[in-house]
Amino acid sequence: MEKKWWHKTVGYQIYPKSFQDTNGDGIGDLKGVIRHLDKIEKLGANVIWLCPVFASPMVDNGYDISDYMDIDPSFGTMEDMKELIAEAKKRGIRILMDLVVNHSSDRHAWFQAALQDPFGKYGKYYVFREGKDGKEPNNWRSIFGGSAWEKVPGYDNLYYLHIFTKEQPDLNWENPELREEIYEMILKWMDLGLGGFRLDAISHLKKNYQYTNLPPDGPDEYNMAFEYFNNVDGLADILCEMKDALTIGEYDHMGPEDVEDVIGENGSFSSVFDFCHTLDNVRNPKWGNTVALFDDYRDQLFAAQKIVDGRGMLCNFLENHDKPRSIDRFLMPEDQNLYSEKMLPVTNFFLPGIVFLYQGQEIGMRDDPKQSIQGFVDKPTFAIYDRLIAEGKTDAEALEQINCESREHSRTPMQWDASAEAGFTTGTPWFPVNKNYTELNYEAEEKDPDSLLWFYRKMVAVRRREDLEETFLYGTLIPEYETVSGVLAYRRKDEKNNVLILTTSLADGITLPFTDTIEEVLLNNYDTCEAGEETIRLQPYQCLVLKVKE
Ligand code: BGC
Repeated sequence: MEKKWWHKTVGYQIYPKSFQDTNGDGIGDLKGVIRHLDKIEKLGANVIWLCPVFASPMVDNGYDISDYMDIDPSFGTMEDMKELIAEAKKRGIRILMDLVVNHSSDRHAWFQAALQDPFGKYGKYYVFREGKDGKEPNNWRSIFGGSAWEKVPGYDNLYYLHIFTKEQPDLNWENPELREEIYEMILKWMDLGLGGFRLDAISHLKKNYQYTNLPPDGPDEYNMAFEYFNNVDGLADILCEMKDALTIGEYDHMGPEDVEDVIGENGSFSSVFDFCHTLDNVRNPKWGNTVALFDDYRDQLFAAQKIVDGRGMLCNFLENHDKPRSIDRFLMPEDQNLYSEKMLPVTNFFLPGIVFLYQGQEIGMRDDPKQSIQGFVDKPTFAIYDRLIAEGKTDAEALEQINCESREHSRTPMQWDASAEAGFTTGTPWFPVNKNYTELNYEAEEKDPDSLLWFYRKMVAVRRREDLEETFLYGTLIPEYETVSGVLAYRRKDEKNNVLILTTSLADGITLPFTDTIEEVLLNNYDTCEAGEETIRLQPYQCLVLKVKE
C-alpha cells in the first residue's frame, strides 16, 4: 500500500452545536472549538472532523445546507473558520469539513430557482418527476419516514425526491453541470487549507430510478427501497483531484466487489466509515447480554477486515452523532464499570485502518433517556415514534425503543465541568445537558490519573508511538482465540514488532493458553498482568496490549 500522510489519522469528531458555546446563545460555536484545541492535542488526535457548520436553516442540524460557501451565523463567521484552521495547524491538527452533497437544503438558491422553473437549468440540479395515478412517482419511503417524494407547490402532478426530510431535496448527480459546481466548491474549500472532507450519505448519490411500486414493507404503503438508492457509481472522477486530501465516505455495507473502487489504491475515497457493527444495541431483546453482543461484534469486525484484505483503510470507530453512546450500546448496566469502559475502545483501536473518537467518548458520556417523546427535538425521532405507534406499539413501548436507539443521546452538550450547564454555555442550552454532569465531566477526570480520559490518552499514545505506529498501520492482522466466547483478541505483526491485543467482556475473566514471551505491557486497565509459562489470566473485563517477542 502506498503510504499517505492521512494513514496516521487519529481523528476526533466534533458536533459543534453541542461542543462549546462562547456567546451565551446556548448553541456551540467555532470559537468554542478553538477554545478546546489544546485538549484535543493533548488527547493525541491529529485530525478533527467537524460536523456541518455551513449556512443552514437547521432542519437537520446543518445537514441541510443553504450556502456551501458560508458559515452559519449561529456557529460564527468565515473568519472564525479560517482561525480554526490556522490554530489547529499550529497544533499539528488538520480539519475535515462535512460535505453534504447528496442533497441541499430546500432554502438553497438552486432549489428556490428550481421551484420557480422545474424544467429549467436548476430544475435539472434536482430530481423532479411526474406522479402516477394521482400519487407519487413510486412508493419509496424516505429514510426519515413518509414518502420520499414531495409535491411541488403550484403543480398538480409534479414531485421532487428527498430520501431524507422534505427540506433536504436530493441533488441530481447525473447532471454534469451540478457536478462541476460542487467540484469547484470543494476546491475553494481545499484552498483554505482544509485536510479534507467527511462525505455525508455518499453511498446514496447514485439512484436506480424505477417507477413501478414495490410491495409495501410496513403499515404505510411505502417500501424502504434501499437497494435503489444505496450505491455509488462514477464518483471516482469527481474526487480524483483530491487524492492528497483525506476523504472519508459514509458508506453503508461495502461488499468485497466494491473495495477496489471505493477505497482501493485508485478508489473514490481515502477511507470509509463502515457501519457493520453500529446497528447493534445490547438492550435490543435480540442480545440481552453483553457477551453475546461482543461475540457477534468481534465476528463482524474481523469479517469487515477480511473483505478489505489490506486493499485499503477502513475507518474504525465506536461512536458518532447518529448513534447512542457506546457504553450504553455495548454493555448491559451490570457490566458497566471503569474496567469495561476502558476495555471497550481497545477492541477496535489497533485494527488496520484509521481511527475516530467522538466528542465526550473520551470521558465516557452516557445516554440521556427522556421521560416523554416531547423531550426529543430531532425530526426523524418523531417519524420513528409515529411509525411505532402505527405498528401498534403503546406510547410507553415506543418511548422505550426510542430511548434505546435514539441518535439524540450523542447530541447532549459536552460536559466540561460541574458548574451550571456543565460549562457548556452561560445561557440556556439548545438541548438539555445530561444531569449526570456534576459527577461525570472533563475537569473531574483531568484531576484523576485513573480516569477514562487518562486511559484514552495512553491508548492514543501507544498507537502513535514512533516505534510501533507502522506495525499498527501496515502490519498483518492475525485474529486470536476466535472461537472463545467473551474474548476479542488479535495480533499485529511485521518484521519489527509483534503486538498482541487481548480483551474480554467476561464478568469473571478467563484463563487462556499462552505461549508468547512478553517484552513490554503497553496498555493495561489493571495494575497487574497475570501471565504464566503456559497460560494468561484475563481479569474481569481486562484489556491488555502486549509487545511480545517476535
Ligand atoms: C448524517 C446524519 C444526517 C443525514 C442526512 C447522515 O447520514 O450523518 O446526521 O441526518 O446524513 O444528511
